Amino acid sequence: MIGSGRSMSECRRLVGRKAVITGAGRGLGLAAAMRLASEGADVTITDVDTSALDEARRVGAQRGFTLSTLVLDSLGDADHASLASHIEKLGGLDILVANAGGSLHTPYRFLDETDEDWRRVTDLNLMGAVRACRCALPWMQRARYGRIVNLGSKAGAYGSLIAGANYAASKGAIAALTRQLALEFGASGITVNCIQPGIVMTERVKGLWAQRRTEEERRRVLEDVPLRRHGVVEDVAAAVAFLASDDAAFITGACLDVNGGQAMS
Ligand SMILES: NC(=O)c1ccc[n+]([C@@H]2O[C@H](COP(=O)([O-])OP(=O)(O)OC[C@H]3O[C@@H](n4cnc5c(N)ncnc54)[C@H](O)[C@@H]3O)[C@@H](O)[C@H]2O)c1
Repeated sequence: MIGSGRSMSECRRLVGRKAVITGAGRGLGLAAAMRLASEGADVTITDVDTSALDEARRVGAQRGFTLSTLVLDSLGDADHASLASHIEKLGGLDILVANAGGSLHTPYRFLDETDEDWRRVTDLNLMGAVRACRCALPWMQRARYGRIVNLGSKAGAYGSLIAGANYAASKGAIAALTRQLALEFGASGITVNCIQPGIVMTERVKGLWAQRRTEEERRRVLEDVPLRRHGVVEDVAAAVAFLASDDAAFITGACLDVNGGQAMS
C-alpha cells in the first residue's frame, strides 16, 4: 500500500533522468518510484518478488506512470549481471536508489542471532547496495553525473526497537559506505547520500512492531517522537526525490534523518 494518500508534489525536477530503485515492488521503494516518476524520471524498479513487480506496474499504470521492472535478487551476487546489462540497455543511469533491505525476520536479540543470520542480513542490506553501486558508478563516472541515494535506517545511527544488531550494524555500514563513496566519486560529479528513516508502518514493519513491542511500549515510543507520529512512505519518498534532484546538487556524504525527530529524545 502507498501510505496515507497525500498528494504528490507538482515538481518536475527529474524530467529526462533515468532511475533504478532496488527492492521496490512495495513499501518505501515503490513510493519512491511513484514520486520519482511523478517528477518526470524514467524509472525501473527491481525486486525478487515477481508478483509484487507486476502489481507495482499495474498500480503505477493506474496513476499514469510507466514503471519498467527487473527481477533482481539483491541477496547474493548471481543476478547483478542482469542489472548491469539493464543499465547498458538504458544507455546509462542518472539515479540509483539502493533500497532493498530489511532484517529478514532474523532474531532481534543479539545472543539469538547466528552467523548465518548475520551473513544474510549483511549480504542484503550492505552488499546489495555495494553491488548496485558497482553496476551504476562506471556509467555515472563516464557521464560525469550521478545521484546515489542509499537507504540506511535510524537503526544504524541510534539503534532499533524491532530489529537486531545484525540489521543495525549493516545500516551503520551503509552510512560509512555513503561517506566513503561520496569522497571517492565527488570529483566525477556524483553525489552519494543516505536516508535514515525511523519507523514507517509498511506491512513488514507493522508485523514486527506488533510482535516485538508491547502495547504500552508502542504508546511510549510514539509519545517520545517530537512530531507524535510514525513516518509514512511519502515522507521518505519526498526525501529521496530531493536528494536525487539538482536541488541537492551541493549535498554529498550526508545521512538525512527522516524520523519525526525521534532520535533527539
Ligand atoms: N519501513 C521502515 O520502518 C524502515 C525504516 C528504516 C529503514 N528502512 C529501510 O528501507 C528499505 C525498504 O524497507 P520497506 O519497509 O519498504 O521494506 P518492505 O519489506 O516493505 O519492502 C521491501 C521490498 O524488498 C523486496 N526484497 C526483499 N528481499 C529482497 C531481495 N533479496 N532482493 C530484492 N528485493 C528484495 C521485497 O520483496 C519487498 O518488495 C529497506 O532497506 C529497509 O531496511 C525501512
